[in-house]
Amino acid sequence: MTNTSTGIFEEVREFPDPSAARRFSALVGLDHMKERLLKEARLLLDPQSLLDWSKKYHHQKLQLIDFFRDRPPLFIFAGDVGTGKTALAETFGDAVAREADIRITLYALSLNARGTGAVGEMTSLISKAFNEVKQAATPPTRHSGKHRSGIVLLIDEADALAQSRELAQMHHEDRAGVNALIRGVDDLATGNLPAIVVMCTNRLDALDPAIRRRAAVTFAFTRPNEAQRHAFLQPVLEELGFNSRQIQSVVATTGATNGRAYGYTYSDLAQRLLPGLLLAAYPDRAVSFDLATEVVEKHPPTPPFQAEGLGRKAE
Ligand SMILES: Nc1ncnc2c1ncn2[C@@H]1O[C@H](COP(=O)(O)OP(=O)(O)O)[C@@H](O)[C@H]1O
Ligand SMILES: [Mg+2]
Repeated sequence: MTNTSTGIFEEVREFPDPSAARRFSALVGLDHMKERLLKEARLLLDPQSLLDWSKKYHHQKLQLIDFFRDRPPLFIFAGDVGTGKTALAETFGDAVAREADIRITLYALSLNARGTGAVGEMTSLISKAFNEVKQAATPPTRHSGKHRSGIVLLIDEADALAQSRELAQMHHEDRAGVNALIRGVDDLATGNLPAIVVMCTNRLDALDPAIRRRAAVTFAFTRPNEAQRHAFLQPVLEELGFNSRQIQSVVATTGATNGRAYGYTYSDLAQRLLPGLLLAAYPDRAVSFDLATEVVEKHPPTPPFQAEGLGRKAE
């Protein structure tokens, strides 16, 4: 972990980094997002490869390329809590760094962690973050036009921006934070800078439409389905000596079952159920299928955000 000059970021991390690689590859069910992100990043870092492609297959520089290039480099990760938004956002930079053999730096900002979310505070935080990223992102220097380093700016819990807007409406400043964000993203795009902005949110509908419209892609993160739970649990349970019927049973009971309309999130499995299983067995017995069945009952899944009736206003 490196130091930042201003300390406005929670975290600045440089890739490649083996622990990020491990976390990235452990993420299940996000393959199409991973592929898309890597492809987008490759094109951003190596714009020349797009021209080469255009000339090779169409014998000219296509107008299509400009449409692609003029998009703001904004990606929205939206969906239920515990489905891998933060984990993917924090680690895909490592895969990009390895693939392109360059240095990628992650600048992570979490808006929710920022006190009251008062509008002026949020706005200046966002402006500062973009300024710093802009300074750190160097335009391509070499003749090839290929970038030698890249930046991922992560704005986690971006729905806090909407909360600030709700407050701000009283102060007739309601668009300030949103505008700062839009300006920042547009600046990065027009400067041809090698930076990708990722915004994560559990409440997509709370994000300003102007921001949502700007996103090159909005990825929808969901709870794991049966096959994904299987992919996640199978190696862990197999190692414990569970047979395939027992594994299937755990997979089934962690889904929507017994009148419950939702299954376990990835974090329910990774951070509660499996550690709970270990604690139940430690220190004086082995993990058994019967124990797992008990532990599943003790650790029900997190209700979906909506079902809690928290933080959502009737619109
Ligand atoms: N798709 C996934 N595959 C495997 N593990 C996951 C996945 N999504 C989340 N997890 C686990 O749950 C933890 C919390 O996920 P996180 O990315 O913080 O969720 P979110 O930001 O969507 O609320 C991760 O660190 C990881 O251990
Ligand atoms: Mg998160």
